Amino acid sequence: MTIDSDEDLEGLLRTGRVVAEARDAMVAAVKPGVTTGELDSIGRETFRRHGARSAPRVTYNFPGSTCISINDEAAHGIPSLARHLREGDLVNIDVSAELDGYFSDTGVSVPVGVVPAMSQRLLDVTRHAQRDAMSTARTGNTLRDVGKTVESLARRHGFRVIRNLYGHGVGKGLHEEPSVPSFDDHQRMVLHDGMVLAVEPFLSVSASFVIDDPDGWTLRTSDGSLVAQFEHTMVVTSGAPIVLTE
Ligand code: CO
Ligand code: CO
Repeated sequence: MTIDSDEDLEGLLRTGRVVAEARDAMVAAVKPGVTTGELDSIGRETFRRHGARSAPRVTYNFPGSTCISINDEAAHGIPSLARHLREGDLVNIDVSAELDGYFSDTGVSVPVGVVPAMSQRLLDVTRHAQRDAMSTARTGNTLRDVGKTVESLARRHGFRVIRNLYGHGVGKGLHEEPSVPSFDDHQRMVLHDGMVLAVEPFLSVSASFVIDDPDGWTLRTSDGSLVAQFEHTMVVTSGAPIVLTE
């Protein structure tokens, strides 16, 4: 969506705060031995307290309140009380919700206990790429500029971008136009003031694509390599972005 009133901005800020609170509470509970189902219940309880609804559940009938994906799983992992985090894992927590008709979307990859140096580097570079992508997503730049920023940073550090996952417009629904690439896909669309975008690059150690898991939801890297994602919902301006999910 494109914001065209104070009411829009306030509504988006409200739902942005809810998903950020849920994300941070879930991240605080990450440790070896905890199950992804337990983490999900923290997110579900946060939504309930604020009167918000899980966006993947209301939009796609996803079988969880949040998406929790481990190691080579990039996105849409199904929370389960039978799935335990283990020392050395990378876990991605992706939280999106609707409140009063406004949607926000955020995600973070975090280490479980102590992780190998390569895993930590992947996290650091992906977080950096997400920041740079948001800075590039300003009025007058193109979507292609955003993608080029992510891809060149990933390359410089020896990582790959996932080419079949995109960021997206967000606001009145979970997934709106336009798609926000993490590579140079030659999209010449020019960004303008007030556009609301979920910016979410996925970087991997060696994969360029994700494939569907037989469970019908989980997306994992084609070669089983580690993947990380960071995501914020932001408003485009002619200067620094307004980040709604800090
Ligand atoms: Co998300
Ligand atoms: Co998203």
